[in-house]
Parts: sequence; structure tokens; C-alpha cells
Amino acid sequence: MFLIPKSNLKKFDPERSCFVLNEFAAAEFSSAVEMLFAAKVVNNKKLSDGFIRHALDEYKHCIIFTNIKNQIISEYKINKKELSFVPNHLYNKGYIYKDHFIFEKKKLNDFAIFVGANEEIAEKKLIAFSNHLKEQKPLAFTEIQNILKDEERHAEYSLRFAKNNNGLFSYKIKLAKDIIINRLAEPPSLIDLANEIGLSLKKLKEGFKQIYGDSVYSFLIDYKMELARTLLESGDYNVNEVGLKIGYSTSSHFIAAFKKKYGVTPKKYFMSLSS
Ligand SMILES: [Fe+2]
Ligand SMILES: [Fe+2]
Repeated sequence: MFLIPKSNLKKFDPERSCFVLNEFAAAEFSSAVEMLFAAKVVNNKKLSDGFIRHALDEYKHCIIFTNIKNQIISEYKINKKELSFVPNHLYNKGYIYKDHFIFEKKKLNDFAIFVGANEEIAEKKLIAFSNHLKEQKPLAFTEIQNILKDEERHAEYSLRFAKNNNGLFSYKIKLAKDIIINRLAEPPSLIDLANEIGLSLKKLKEGFKQIYGDSVYSFLIDYKMELARTLLESGDYNVNEVGLKIGYSTSSHFIAAFKKKYGVTPKKYFMSLSS
């Protein structure tokens, strides 16, 4: 869902960069809120302190991204109201699902996997983005390198916790689930997914079915349709936009999939909400 500039994009694009920075800032803010929430809920002083430290890091990152964005805005005289800060990531990235924080729905062990997978994916996006900025904004580049060091630590800590508490096999299967959810618009192929988590294709398929009662593919479709429904309910996106967000470049395919799951078209569903 990020608007990451492609690595082959040679020219520095200030406006697009600002949109990306805004998304990063929103993601960091969301993560900070989520960590504070987790710190409050968890019943263990050491873990709780860890969550608070993590929250403070994320808040710091939010400020850094916002500052870089504001510098570019004033330097290039960009005037876009969409660039004001809205923590839309709380919804978009699934930190809040319906009116619940994800943490409420997850056990601590699963939450650690969720955080670890998220941090690793954020790292990859950050690396691509900072390379794009490197020449034009060397200072910003250095600041982002420092953020990356924090994120690496977060990912490592969360994944270590998750591994120690889940048993390696179920940890890997749950990691696979979080990877496809995090990249739901462009999920990896099954074979790439299996390689990424370090299991054979056969074990991935079997284990996923065992833990989630469904194939990877149907699980993802279900998840996407649920997300589509939430996005439609928010009233912030039209049918086309929702389709794009969950990875359908052709809206007729999205409409067909939605209808198959819920028995009505997205448009009818949306209209039924206001009547
Ligand atoms: Fe961060
Ligand atoms: Fe982080």
C-alpha cells in the first residue's frame, strides 16, 4: 500500500517523496500507539518496558519523517492538502481492525510475529526509499540510516521472542501468514513464500491448512474481502479505489470476487449501509 518510488526511478520526485514520507510517518505513529496499547495490556513489567521503549523509538521516527517531509515541502513549495498528517495507517495497515486494535485480537506470541514481519517489510521499503533520496538529500539519507538501525533491532527482538515462544514450525507458518497479509496487494508466489520462511512447499501447504484451516490462497482472498468491506464501510474510498488497495487492477474482477463472498456487489453493499 506504500507509494514507494521504483528503484529505477532516476529523477528525484519531491512531491511523490512527500507522499511516501507522509505514509511512513503515519505508519510510525500507528506503531507507536499500538506499542503503548500493548504495554498497557501486557502483564509483565519487562515486556511492558520493552513496548514503551519501542513506542518511543517509533514516535521519534514519526517526527523525523515529518521533518524531512516539511523540509521538502518548503524547499520545493509544494502545496497539497493531502500532505497534512493523518494517521490513516491505523486503518490501512490493519493496526485497527473494525474498532479493535490488532493487539486485542492476537495472543502475545502472535503479536510478536506480526510486529517482526512488519518491521522487516518496513526495513525493505525504507532501504529502497532512502536510496532514492541519497543524492538529493544526503542529510535525510543519514537520518533514515539511523532509523533503519532501530528497525533492525525491533525486528530481531520481536522475531526472537516469537521463535522462543511459538515452536519453530508454527512460528514459520504464522510468519507466512503475516507476510502475505502485509503484502496483500502483491503477495509473493507460494514457492517464494516457502523459501522466505525456510520450509518446503509441501510443509508450507500442510502446515498452513493445519493452523488456519484453509489454503494460503483462500485465506488471503477471505482476508482481502474482509478488508474491502471495512474500507467500504469507512466511506473514504470508492469501489475502484478499494479494489486497487487490495490488489485488483481490474475492478470487474474485484466486483466478482466480492459478490462471490458476500452475495452482493460492493456498490450495492455500500448503498445498503446508508439506507
Ligand atoms: Fe519505526
Ligand atoms: Fe520499529
